[in-house]
Amino acid sequence: MTRVTFPEKYDDLVFLIAGAAGFVPGHVSEFFLNKGATVIGIDNFITGSRENIELLSKYDKFKFYEANIYEGLPDLTNQKVDFILNLASPASPIDFEIIPIEIMRTNSEGSLALLELAKVKGARFLEASTSEVYGDPEIHPQVETYFGNVNTLGPRAPYDESKRFAEAMTMSFHRKYGVDTRIVRIFNTYGPRMRANDGRVIPNFINQALRGEDITIYGDGSQTRSFCFVTDLVNAIHNVLFSHDVTPFNIGNPDEYSVKDCAEIIVKALNSTSKIVYMPLPQDDPKRRRPNIDKLQAVCDYTPEVSFVEGLRQTTEFFKKGL
Ligand SMILES: NC(=O)c1ccc[n+]([C@@H]2O[C@H](COP(=O)([O-])OP(=O)(O)OC[C@H]3O[C@@H](n4cnc5c(N)ncnc54)[C@H](O)[C@@H]3O)[C@@H](O)[C@H]2O)c1
Repeated sequence: MTRVTFPEKYDDLVFLIAGAAGFVPGHVSEFFLNKGATVIGIDNFITGSRENIELLSKYDKFKFYEANIYEGLPDLTNQKVDFILNLASPASPIDFEIIPIEIMRTNSEGSLALLELAKVKGARFLEASTSEVYGDPEIHPQVETYFGNVNTLGPRAPYDESKRFAEAMTMSFHRKYGVDTRIVRIFNTYGPRMRANDGRVIPNFINQALRGEDITIYGDGSQTRSFCFVTDLVNAIHNVLFSHDVTPFNIGNPDEYSVKDCAEIIVKALNSTSKIVYMPLPQDDPKRRRPNIDKLQAVCDYTPEVSFVEGLRQTTEFFKKGL
């Protein structure tokens, strides 16, 4: 497979990042700003934060538009755009219940609008897909060639199915119009600037442990997840963007932990007095999650660098500031 080729310099490059006020997209924006590129952020703040935009606004080459990607993009007629990264989408299971229609519209109509823009601008387009396209997987670890096991009617469907739609739309723009596209399937990612109350495992456990509250595990805790620290994920996105393969790449950290182990590690690392308690498992909760990242490693020298303990330390420091 052809290896990734990075630009010699980034100063003249313009990255449009949809979802810039969010957790992963905020870190991605900062990464390209630190490389000297211009970043244009778009966000409607449905799950993002204004603090993230304030952080990015310290960079002269950051521009921001408050807009909903499925209700009309800002006018960029005279603006050069080299890369469009579609990272806009709520991603937490609690969002799937509260704002399912917004999620579906973002990943369908929103992705379509950004693909149309990529076509007009001749920009390379990257779609942030998810390990959720594998649903509750029957094969383990998950490889990109696996088609998944998704319930189209369940509570996770608005997210899972609309991401599958976004992948299909991305491939269709590539095949029909020759748009230069990339797809990343992101596995569980954590780190500073996540929302404390967004219902995902790591922020939940850390915040419960910091407050000395019970740590709630859904199910018996034997379900597994593979957690990637956000800077390692950004590094993987950078590599895929400059790869030469339009078919999806899994990105994440293949180290796998049971949810129960994860809770115990956090209680110990934080010296917390919290007790672990068990609640009913939500419908369609995936039993096992672990990315096979051989495809990514065949095109670049990628290895996740941040250990779980170090990643938890940095994430805990961040949440402590908000207490
Ligand atoms: N964090 C993870 O573990 C994970 C895993 C798999 C996939 N992803 C994907 O990565 C991307 C970022 O996820 P995140 O965890 O950082 O979530 P996030 O909620 O922190 O960031 C998403 C951002 O998109 C914005 N947004 C949502 N809908 C929008 C719309 N219609 N118009 C404009 N802005 C909109 C939100 O306000 C938010 O700022 C998403 O596409 C998500 O599906 C994340």
